[in-house]
Amino acid sequence: MLLHVPSVLDADALRRIGERLAAAEGDWVDGRATAGHQGAAVKHNQQIAERSKTSIELSDAVLSVLERNPLFISGALPNRVYPPLFNRYTGGMQFGGHVDGAVRIMPSGSGQKIRTDLSATLFLSPPEAYDGGALLIEDTYGVHSVKLPAGDLIVYPATSVHRVEPVTRGTRVGCFFWIQSLVRDDGRRTVLFDLDRAIQRLNATGGDEAARVQLTGVYHNLLRMWTDT
Ligand code: NI
Repeated sequence: MLLHVPSVLDADALRRIGERLAAAEGDWVDGRATAGHQGAAVKHNQQIAERSKTSIELSDAVLSVLERNPLFISGALPNRVYPPLFNRYTGGMQFGGHVDGAVRIMPSGSGQKIRTDLSATLFLSPPEAYDGGALLIEDTYGVHSVKLPAGDLIVYPATSVHRVEPVTRGTRVGCFFWIQSLVRDDGRRTVLFDLDRAIQRLNATGGDEAARVQLTGVYHNLLRMWTDT
């Protein structure tokens, strides 16, 4: 499932993050710093050094917003979220086709691992600020081209081959991260998401209360069955 979460960041947050990134010129490094063998061969971009003060502060800011986003929580069912990283593409930079590494070590120093069930990109530049730079995601239904307004998030299965088209004008700044979901299987997670949305709609429209209680029970009992932690 491709999950589009609109307006994760408001104009104020975007401005603050944009200013912080612009003022952190010394923290931008070659994007291959966090790429595996396969990714490094095709990755041509820049990112903010992972353990820099800038990265840690901005990462925390994005995480705290995500924790309070009901659509993100319902669609991703996050168990662990890798601290968001920040990248930029300019002057023809691109990221060729690749699949993200299955397991990463959390940067906290604890040695804790995270299985990357979902990949996520939070767009920080408005689409009119650059040409090219679409995120192309392949799944069984074909190739999806994603280029969203600043502040919007796309969450997609980390199992999919994806790439970022060359940025031929302007600069594309983004934030990216991975999620280990409580529910590993994308199909099961999609069922839970659809069920949750239907229940929310019934709650909003005042559907039969006993049925709503029963459906909410079904949701939690499926979640209990399918959660792996
Ligand atoms: Ni990737």
